[in-house]
Amino acid sequence: MKLLIVGALEGYLTKASCVARARGCQICHVEEPGAGLEMLRGDVSFDLVLIDDQCDIPSFARALSEERIVATLVACGLGADAKHAVAAIKAGAIEYLPLPPDPEIIAALLQSATEEKSSLVYESAAMKAVIATAEKIASSDASVLILGESGTGKEVIARHIHNRSKRKGRAFIAVNCAAIPETLLESELFGHEKGAFSGAVARRLGKFEQASHGTLLLDEISEMDIRLQAKLLRAIQEREIDRLGGSKAVAVNTRILATSNRDLKAMCAQDRFREDLYFRLNVVSLLLPPLRERRDDIALLAQHFAHKYGEENDLPTRSFSKQALEILQQQDWHGNIRELENATHRAVLLSDGAELSAGDMLAKPVQTMQNGNGSKQGTNTSANQPSGNPGNNKLATIEREAVLETITSSQGDYQRAASILGISIRMLRNKLDRYANEGHIASREQ
Ligand SMILES: Nc1ncnc2c1ncn2[C@@H]1O[C@H](COP(=O)(O)OP(=O)(O)OP(=O)(O)O)[C@@H](O)[C@H]1O
Ligand SMILES: [Mg+2]
Repeated sequence: MKLLIVGALEGYLTKASCVARARGCQICHVEEPGAGLEMLRGDVSFDLVLIDDQCDIPSFARALSEERIVATLVACGLGADAKHAVAAIKAGAIEYLPLPPDPEIIAALLQSATEEKSSLVYESAAMKAVIATAEKIASSDASVLILGESGTGKEVIARHIHNRSKRKGRAFIAVNCAAIPETLLESELFGHEKGAFSGAVARRLGKFEQASHGTLLLDEISEMDIRLQAKLLRAIQEREIDRLGGSKAVAVNTRILATSNRDLKAMCAQDRFREDLYFRLNVVSLLLPPLRERRDDIALLAQHFAHKYGEENDLPTRSFSKQALEILQQQDWHGNIRELENATHRAVLLSDGAELSAGDMLAKPVQTMQNGNGSKQGTNTSANQPSGNPGNNKLATIEREAVLETITSSQGDYQRAASILGISIRMLRNKLDRYANEGHIASREQ
């Protein structure tokens, strides 16, 4: 753990510093925000920055954000004036501590700053092996290809790699290559200069530059068109990018992680994915097993989600009945962890019992088109279709027609259609794949 103190706070922190040191924390102290910024530029591994409220906290926070340095800021002051506290929090500090701070609060803040934001729950041997490899290569700058079915946790693993790397305090930026229309993806990734195209009213940095010194996750890389793949290859090889309309290349230092749920090797054989790019990305590849092949994780994940959604909704954490756990073990979970998460979320909200029963877990989501219930993924995953013949029942037909009509009225813009329908782009693509498999529409594959 590392703590940076900015400003003339040292005198007030003697006791808190002792507690932090006793817990193995390393402490650095600088008098001026400029020197603090310098420290953070050189070493992004500070877990917490305590800053004196006499410093210009808004400028300091702005400089951090402009340089894409991620730091947990806590303001400290004599505390008599609430205005100071409000200004510090508005500027981006997560807390305002009156001086001298309670050492236990400092210890708790350090603890929470070092805890990973996204939890990674697993106990199966298969996942232990994947995580061991991920952690082995995390500290390098190697590109990593993360493969696995939808909902297996590819993004979670990507964040885990970033958090275990020396880039941890810098930006982690994810771009979903399937969600952004082809025509916009290039400028999204590489940025553009003012006037590069009609509508380019100002210079805009692309995600490559925004993630410089950090990590760029290219989600669903298989969906990137072949022309852009060539530009991406150059960016990775030469470590420089060309902004649209720019006259000179810009150096970048961006680590690339990519995910796919398609067989990229097969796509290379069909000339739909560049083989040289595939080899560049695939310095290391991690294959996340589907949930049905790591059943040892099911009960643990279900408990984790029951606890998470209980807490989020101010409900007591309930455990699962024996029968519910048996049922969970038997399901095939084609939507993988996301489907298990949604099913548990729904059970937590709807169950009236003292424990979550098999019936609660098997309850089907209500199939409505406007799924505006505020839940992150909605509850009607493709794997949760009504039983019977999904392609032929009336509700499925109505849904299919509404989905196809929305795509037509959105002129083929899948992102827009998905947002009008209130579902994720991934869910929309899954639905289209299913309609193609059932023969209702032509296959999306060329
Ligand atoms: N090991 C895990 N522990 C806890 N939660 C997990 C784990 N793996 C995945 N999740 C949760 O499951 C959901 C799906 O994970 P994620 O988005 O990483 O999957 P994905 O493989 O990227 O899916 P997609 O292919 O649809 O983009 C998320 O809500 C994530 O937090
Ligand atoms: Mg994903």
